[in-house]
Parts: sequence; C-alpha cells; structure tokens
Amino acid sequence: MKRLFEVNEWKITELGFNPEDNRLAESMTSIGNGHMGMRGTFEEEYTGDTHQGMYVAGVYYPDKTRVGWWKNGYPEYFAKVLNAVNIMGLKVSVNGKAVDLNTWEVVDFKRELDMQHGVLTRAMLLKHGEEEIKVESKRFFSIVDKEIAALQYTVTPVNLEAEIVIESYLDADVENEDSNYDEKFWLPVEHGIEERFGYVTSKTKKLDWHVTAAMITDVEGARCEVVDGNTQYVANRFTKQAAVGEGVTVEKFVALVTNRDHEIDALLEQAMKRVHVAFESGFEPLLATHEAAWLHHWEEADVKIEGDVEAQQGIRFNIFHMFQTYTGEDSRLNIGPKGFTGEKYGGATYWDTEAYCLNFYLATSKPEVAWNLLKYRHNQLPQAKENADKNVGMKGALYPMVTMNGEECHNEWEITHEEIHRNGAIAHAIYNYTNYTGDTSYLGQYGFEVLVEIARYWASRVNYVPHKDVYMILGVTGPNEYENNVNNNWYTNLIAAWCLEYTQTVHRHLAQEEPERLQELMHQLALTDEELAKWADIDAKMYYPKDEAAPGIFMQQDGFMDKEQILVAELDPKHLPLNQNWSWDRILRSVFIKQADVLQGLYFLTDRFSLEEKKANFDFYEPRTVHESSLSPCIYSIIAAEVGYEEKAVELYQRSARLDLDNYNNDTEDGLHITSMVGSWMSIVHGFAGLRVANDTLSFKPMLPKGWTSYTFRMQWRGHHIHIHVQPNAVEIAQTEGEAFSLNVHGTTVEVPASGQITVPASMTV
Ligand code: BGC
Repeated sequence: MKRLFEVNEWKITELGFNPEDNRLAESMTSIGNGHMGMRGTFEEEYTGDTHQGMYVAGVYYPDKTRVGWWKNGYPEYFAKVLNAVNIMGLKVSVNGKAVDLNTWEVVDFKRELDMQHGVLTRAMLLKHGEEEIKVESKRFFSIVDKEIAALQYTVTPVNLEAEIVIESYLDADVENEDSNYDEKFWLPVEHGIEERFGYVTSKTKKLDWHVTAAMITDVEGARCEVVDGNTQYVANRFTKQAAVGEGVTVEKFVALVTNRDHEIDALLEQAMKRVHVAFESGFEPLLATHEAAWLHHWEEADVKIEGDVEAQQGIRFNIFHMFQTYTGEDSRLNIGPKGFTGEKYGGATYWDTEAYCLNFYLATSKPEVAWNLLKYRHNQLPQAKENADKNVGMKGALYPMVTMNGEECHNEWEITHEEIHRNGAIAHAIYNYTNYTGDTSYLGQYGFEVLVEIARYWASRVNYVPHKDVYMILGVTGPNEYENNVNNNWYTNLIAAWCLEYTQTVHRHLAQEEPERLQELMHQLALTDEELAKWADIDAKMYYPKDEAAPGIFMQQDGFMDKEQILVAELDPKHLPLNQNWSWDRILRSVFIKQADVLQGLYFLTDRFSLEEKKANFDFYEPRTVHESSLSPCIYSIIAAEVGYEEKAVELYQRSARLDLDNYNNDTEDGLHITSMVGSWMSIVHGFAGLRVANDTLSFKPMLPKGWTSYTFRMQWRGHHIHIHVQPNAVEIAQTEGEAFSLNVHGTTVEVPASGQITVPASMTV
C-alpha cells in the first residue's frame, strides 16, 4: 500500500513532486471523456521517468502476437489500444533554459484532479540558478463536445524579467510501450501549420484508422512563429518578454476526430470546424459547460458517504472513472479494464463489461447506455460464430475472452479456448437489462439471436455421458483462473444450463408477445422445435459436482476435494500474492482460488439459492480465496452482506474501494483497475444496500457499515430518479422525478410518492 494523495471528498491531490512515483500519479490523474483520454502527464517536456499515453476510443492496432508455443485456433494478432498523437504538448523555456522538472529544482508542486468538475490542474514553483518561476496549468477533455480538449498554461517569472518561449505542438510520432516488436504503429498522412493553427493526420499501418488533430493556440501579446517540424510534428512558437510577476498564458484548443465517426476525406474539415467553434467560445465558457455536465452526472450518480472521508474519496474516484471511460452513445465502443489510463490489457473488451460494468450504467444512466453495451455484442455475433467454428467444430457463437472487433485476440490456451463461461455473462446481461429496465424490446430486436447462438454453442460443447444419463462440460477454466482444464466447473455448468433455459423462456415470451417476429427469427436462425427440446433436455440433465466430504457445498469442479485442503490463513504471508511467489504449476495444484467462482454463480442467479446455501458456500470458499483478481472481493462482499456478515462485507469492500488510490496491488502505474471500480460501487449498492430487482419490483435490504454515519446513493429505475439515504435508524427514500410507485424494504412494501419522500425504519437483521 502506498498513499501518495491527500484524503479529500472531491479531489485527488499530490503535494510535492515524487519523481519515483510519477507514473503512478500519471495513472491516477488521467482524464477522459469516453471518446479519448490521457494520462496525467506534464504538458512541458519531462526527461525523467514518464509514460506519455493518449488513447482514442475504438482506435486499435492488431500487433503481431508473441507466443512461446503455437496452438491451433490461436489468433494471429493481439489487438491493443493505441498511444495516439500527443495533443497537450508544450515546450517551454525561460531565458533560454528548457523547463523540465528533471533539471529544475521543484520548490512547490501540486497536481490535482478535481473529480466534481472533471478538471486537471497543476501549480508549481520552480527554480533554476537565479531564475524562479511559477507555473499553473489547467486542462480538460470536454464531456459536452467529446472531440474537444483544452489547456490553459501560465508561466510567471517570480524574481527576474524573462523571455518566455512556449512552443505548442501536436506530435503524432508516438509509440506504444507494449509494442510486441518495438514497432511504431502510425504513418504520416498530412500536416499543416500556420500562425496559431496547425494540424496532423496520421493513420495506422494496418486497419487504416485515421486520426486528425487540429489545434489553435494563442498567447496574448506574443510573437508567433511557425515550426514545421516534420510530417508528424507541427508547432507554433510564441515568444514574449515578461516583467517580474507578469504571467504569460497560453491557451490551446484541440479537436481530435477519427474515421470511426467521419469520412476520411472530411476529417480535416471537421477538425478545423470544431476547433474553431471551441476557440471562439473561449476557454472559460467551454469549461463552464463541461463542469455543468459533470455536476449533472453527480446529480444522477453520486454516492455520498458521511463519517468516512477515505471511503468517500474512494467511491467518487471510482464513479468518476466509470463516466470517463464509457459514455454509451456508440454501440461500437466498450470498456477496457484500464480505460484510458494505460496500455495493459490492450484496452480490449472482457467479460468484465457484462458481468460487472453493466450494473453501474443500468442504475446511473439512461437505458440507451446499457442497450448500447448489449448491442456491441450483437454487432459482433458473426465473429463470435466464426470463433466457435474455429474451436474445432463447435456450433453457434463463442464470444471472445478478449476483443476489439469481435475476433478473439488473446492467446493463452487455458483462457482463449477454455474460459468459455464468458458466453454465459453475455447472455446474462440480456436478462439483466430486461429484468432491470422492464423493457423487453431488446429480446425480439437483437437479444434472441444472440441467445440462440450462445445456446447452440453450449449444446455442442456439452458431452452426454450415457451410463450416467447426464451432460458434462469437460476441459474448462472457470472464473478462477488458478485452475485450468478442469472437468465440470460448477459455475460454467450452471451458467450454460441457465443460458439454455433462458433462451427457451425468451422463446415463449416472443411466442406470446411478438409471434410474427418470432416466426421471422425462427426462419432466419433455422431454429426448430427439436433443437429447443434438446436444450431443455441438456438443462434438465446437467451434471453438477458434489462431494460427500463437503456436504451442502457446490463443488467448484470434479476432484476439488482431492486437493490438499488448506486455508489462506494457514499460509505464511510471505507466499502472498501467490502469483508473484509461486510457480504456476504449484498454483494450479493448490486449493487456492483467484476470484469468485462458485460465488459468481450465487450472485448472478441469486434467486435460485437460499440464504443457507449462500452462507455455507461463502464459509467454505472465502477462506480458500486469495482475491488476486480485482474482480473478486466485491462479489464476496455482496454475498457477505446478504448473509449478514457485516464486518466481512466491509472488509472485502475496502479491498476494492481504494485499490488504486492506495496502490494496493503495486501496479497502478500501469493504469487503473476499472472493473474493480465498478465492483466497489456494486458492493455498496448491491451489497450494503441490498438492491435487487425481481418480478418488476425494486427491493432493498440496507445495512450501514460501522464507522459510517450514513450514506446516500442516487439511481434510476424505470423512469424513477431515486435517492436512498441509509442512516443508523432509518432509510429515507426520495424521488426527484417519476410517478408514485411502490418498492420493498426489508421485505415490507412501501409507497414512494411522486416527487416525494418516505422514511422507513432501518432493520439490521437479515
Ligand atoms: C481476471 C479475469 C478478467 C481480466 C480482466 C483477470 O485477471 O481473472 O476474470 O476478465 O483480469 O479484468
């Protein structure tokens, strides 16, 4: 654990410059707007250790893959999010000395992310020989006009008159740190520079992604020169003589457009048009609309915790990043596990989206946002079908474990070929959306097609064992990646059977509600009654492992009890984390569990299991779980809260809430853990507050963690905008928008008036 930042409700503040933690601070102060994002790197040149990272949503590169031993079915490439044109760069010099924190003495330093308003600022006092200067910067990536970013940067000589030179540039000659063969991925297309205006267009070496960045920079009263650097670098150089105490301010406006949104031929025109509009609005007005939009996000989605500022900061940091990463207007985009904050995990889509992130957007955004996440997978159904076929003769669709465009781009056999449970999360997301919103229209439009192809995959992947009259699923990796090639992972069998059952349920729903559409779909999908009957048979005869040695426990897989049954508490702590201390084969042979596996099933299909079953399985599995995936603690925390293990629920919640803020895993310098962020939101809303939706009814079973005076969260549900305020003795439910409706608190139905509020007594008993 490392605490670099001040504890504050709304701000992430780094006081004093720590060059050795610069990368960590850069990850932490990343800003983005769903279209693009950038690490909190300095605008001016820095010759110390830094990771200059600027990423554009959906713009990726199929880097040549690297594997030790090739296996059939491996993808040819590993897609990665691209480090793109540096749009914020400045070269600053004072009386001929380049400003660089590596060579100047840093007297005072403050880098601060204001999460309430989405603004990154820096204030510094620097010294070099005789010269002392003050530098202040402020930048934002507009969440109103997502193709626009703006910067205001002021240099003030403190003790001497100085000639200040500021070169404002666009540099597209950038590379990915994680490039497999140290290749650069960009080619120049065109560039242009004139006084106060410049642009660069570059394209990727493969796939033809085009990105144009256009800038307008101005420094009042300064001489401006044009620097036509090279085909990927353009700049304006401003020179101004400044008196002692006179600030020289550069304002830089940038438009960044891509051929994801515009025709290639129109890119320059679009970028020019947009950057001019931004420039004419001016920095402050542009910032004001951006800040107002952030305040609106908080209106809809804030979680307010009273009595624990650390927890408050943690959850707001998490919510802030969810909105920076994905905004939901475009069904071609998704959520990378590191968002726009680093290159690890390639910026690609994982099952994390459906299993975790969807919950947040369902409750805090318009239903279109969640719809677009579902539509993303429908768009990629053809590739998922090809992927199943590649897996030697499987039918239907196997969605990839890791993807950019629908094709699998991960190549570890135990994950690519075996971690097939991901298909279940994608089907479950369709259920989750429909169940939460009450909107069944997705099913007929797109959902059924996806469900049928997923069901087909499972039906071809199971294996019938005649002498036992059961279906089994052999050779898989469950969510617990610390075991590979196991037979009958309970979770995988459960979610597979559930998919088959849910597809039949949706079939019946469509038969009743949209019979014509169903006929059309049956024809299009060549779906027969025999196939449906086969799915029912598999569902009914699915095999689930049990073991007499552990009665009442859903066995994670066949043979789990044959392993040496030791607990994490019995391990010498020096062995932890296992993935940094043990050989892979030792991990695989051990009983230790990386992340929620059986418990993932108990969480997803919560209605099917009694509290006793949940408790027994929690008691059995939690002591064997090392939580070495940031996805793990939140699921355990939710189940702990449900079964009444309040302290445990809070302890597990704390593991994810400040994971990055306190750099628990010692890897935040690579980027932030976006899924874990949504996990901590889930721990509060699904866990502590016990939010569930079943049979068109919203219900809560709130509890208040010790040490918190109260907490309030805001959410939307079927047109109702609701604030839930959980206090020691009461729960207040207020509705800011929506008709009167009833909901359930601790098993009692209560009526919430339109634009009104009710208070119900809190009950801590479960
Ligand atoms: C987890 C996966 C997850 C991936 C990306 C891995 O460590 O085991 O379940 O999808 O990280 O977050």
